[in-house]
Amino acid sequence: MSTIDIRVIPDPVLRKLAKPVENITDAIVKLSGDMVETMILAHGAGLAAPQVGLPLRLIAIDASLNPVEKEPIIVINPVIVETHLEENGEEGCLSVPGYYEYVKRAKKVHARGTDLKGNTIDFECEGQLARAFQHEIDHLNGVLFIDLLSPIKKNIFKKKYTGKKA
Ligand code: NI
Repeated sequence: MSTIDIRVIPDPVLRKLAKPVENITDAIVKLSGDMVETMILAHGAGLAAPQVGLPLRLIAIDASLNPVEKEPIIVINPVIVETHLEENGEEGCLSVPGYYEYVKRAKKVHARGTDLKGNTIDFECEGQLARAFQHEIDHLNGVLFIDLLSPIKKNIFKKKYTGKKA
């Protein structure tokens, strides 16, 4: 495994609509391992393939958020099937370094996708894991958490962020 450079705003790859993964090739398996390693070293709660420059529908979520196996979660072509309720929670993003803000998300989600063996996997989750799924799937649609801020907070963000490496 090896780490991959994480793209930060305003890299245009972060704004692309990612393409579905059609086949689970060796390259996809290797990419998944590299994404997990990259995520762990960067202390991220999750990572989506566009963040390492590949506009593909593939996400990784940190092991500490996996209530069952305590292993990193890799999901190919993930979708949100159902959502329940809403709550505010603080978020950050490896592609928006140094910025954290509260964002409203669904409290509970049912997420579905495919694992690296080609099996359909379902996650009924809430709290941090539900938030991570929503955040990472947004990345596949070119959406960043800063897009979800109120107009006032967006302005504050722009002022704070101007002049940084973005
Ligand atoms: Ni992110």
